[in-house]
Amino acid sequence: MFIRHETIEKNAVLMLVLTAITIAIGGIIEIVPLFTIETTVEHVKGVRPYAPLELMGRNIYVREGCYLCHSQQIRALKDEVERYGHYSLAAESMYDHPFQWGSKRIGPDLARVGGKYSNDWHYAHLINPQALVPESLMPKYAFLAQTPLNYDIIEEHLRKNRGVGVPYTDEQIANARKDLEAQADPAADNEALLKRYPKAVTVAGNGRAPTELDALVAYLQVLGTMVDFADTSTEQLQQ
Ligand code: HEC
Repeated sequence: MFIRHETIEKNAVLMLVLTAITIAIGGIIEIVPLFTIETTVEHVKGVRPYAPLELMGRNIYVREGCYLCHSQQIRALKDEVERYGHYSLAAESMYDHPFQWGSKRIGPDLARVGGKYSNDWHYAHLINPQALVPESLMPKYAFLAQTPLNYDIIEEHLRKNRGVGVPYTDEQIANARKDLEAQADPAADNEALLKRYPKAVTVAGNGRAPTELDALVAYLQVLGTMVDFADTSTEQLQQ
């Protein structure tokens, strides 16, 4: 045995070939099982693609660089869970392209900010954070209330998201414009919207064209609300 091993050790080419074979076997054992599963992220009940208005709001969140001061991931640590709520599940950001986990917390984590405040609070806070939290370091975003939301490309946007794996249906794409407008108008009939996107929060619009601020508030209000954590066991939440 040892004599044969000495032959290998003294022959660089043989050593290389055998090393390559060993690594290849290890690699195959590691990789092949992954081909047999559809996704490495477990589906969790309640997680759905973003409604069109939320998706546009998310674009504004990315464009304005909110992720530079806010994370969207609650770690499984006692103090974080006590402050922000249930730790984040991988499935909760499975339709985020790109994800917004962030790496800095100049402001609080926003993974579960949805439903924490009223719409009015968010409007007032984004327009002038210091009016509500005098010591806040957050910049003012009042201009978003004056900027009409450009959603000409909304159908295409949903389609492109489908291209990277977000399961938008043909019905959702065909109704994207209607759903977006319904979510930005409290007077609109939102039954179809809620059927397609459960828990979508209607934001102020009052008949005027949706603004970028409307979209951003709709996005903030859905964060962390899709999964019902009243059922505390994560295994039970999995479909
Ligand atoms: C320069 C850093 C900074 C940037 C950029 C920033 N924020 Fe903040 N944000 C803060 C700080 C600090 C607080 C805590 C004080 C307060 O509530 O204003 C905060 C608080 C918040 C809160 C309240 C969270 C809670 O749980 O009380 C929300 C919502 C929020 N920010 C949203 C946003 C959005 C949306 C953007 C991008 C348009 C943004 N922030 C950009 C620093 C920032």
